[in-house]
Amino acid sequence: MSKRMRQVLNARSRRTAGAPSGGPPAGWRADEPLPVGGVTLPNRIVQAPLAGIGNWAFRRQSRRFGAGLCVSEMVASQGIVRDNRKTLSMLRVVEGESPVAIQLLGAEPEAMAASAKAAVEAGADIVDVNMGCPVPKVCKTGAGSALLDDPDAAARLVDAMVAAVDVPVTVKMRRGSTPATSRPVEMARRLESAGAAALCVHPRAAAEEYEGAADHAITAEVAAAVGVPVIASGDVGSAEDVARVLAIEGVEAVAIGRAALGYPWLYRELVSGVASPRPARAEMVAELRRFAADAAEALGSARAVGYLRKFYPWYLAGYDVPHEVAQAMLREPTVEGALSRLVEGWALAPAA
Ligand SMILES: Cc1cc2nc3c(=O)[nH]c(=O)nc-3n(C[C@H](O)[C@H](O)[C@H](O)COP(=O)(O)O)c2cc1C
Repeated sequence: MSKRMRQVLNARSRRTAGAPSGGPPAGWRADEPLPVGGVTLPNRIVQAPLAGIGNWAFRRQSRRFGAGLCVSEMVASQGIVRDNRKTLSMLRVVEGESPVAIQLLGAEPEAMAASAKAAVEAGADIVDVNMGCPVPKVCKTGAGSALLDDPDAAARLVDAMVAAVDVPVTVKMRRGSTPATSRPVEMARRLESAGAAALCVHPRAAAEEYEGAADHAITAEVAAAVGVPVIASGDVGSAEDVARVLAIEGVEAVAIGRAALGYPWLYRELVSGVASPRPARAEMVAELRRFAADAAEALGSARAVGYLRKFYPWYLAGYDVPHEVAQAMLREPTVEGALSRLVEGWALAPAA
């Protein structure tokens, strides 16, 4: 992982230290169902798409903790139509993660329509389109946030996908590619006319990457302009954030990205509006072990080693794990080795 990405991930919104409270704040509606096209989400807390993170193991865990919709990491349509084995494996949907959206990345209507069909065949309840990825290699192909500069191309893409599948097609968009050229309201209206069933808005421009705070006044402008549900994404990490953002007219759900990394318990808190104490360390380790087992199945044990190394510091944040133990976990060549280091170094009883 690059140093820049590590900074982005570490800048995740801080959750409030969970003192148990009596009940949800007045008017709490994060736990209400939300219809998106023909699919009804059980609540309004969505697990955001995260490249390199949102495989089925991660999604199934998010769902188990209460996320009302889990969204896959972006999957390249070019890889799907070319039968790339690794790309096709990213389409896998397993039991226990529904409702689930598969997010597709691409710029060619035919390839995106064919990929949407493949995603539905794999088990997707919703197909989502990436119109936010700021990576130059992606934008050069006209995909990701480059689509925000070309409303006609973006609308053609959605139109072709809507014609190809019976499930709802949604779009995840940024406000624009640069602050100066952003026209999020115009773009949102075009996408709605093309048949998008919901829009997830991350209100930073692509050129801003993850700088500054997400300005949900922009999300509010989009929400006021369209009739489909708007899902707000960016810097939502506490019940207070959820209440503030869901109070915006037309914002019907929130997406949680960085704040839940290593803390899936957050979904439960945000759906209910009731904060809970941080889980006891044995419970945290048991959850990490369960997630690690799924990750090893999803990725194969060799790739799971590197994948899980990202997660260890996130799970351990806020616990008194000795620094040497945390470091030793990162050096272990196997997942089992890393977890044994944790259990032994932290004087926990080994798992039964
Ligand atoms: C590591 C990382 C990977 C991401 N991958 C995707 C992606 O594949 N598709 C997408 O639409 N957004 C992606 N995003 C953006 C997030 O879904 C979300 O909009 C953004 O992180 C702001 O929300 P947060 O403050 O809750 O993290 C990614 C963000 C991060 C940090």
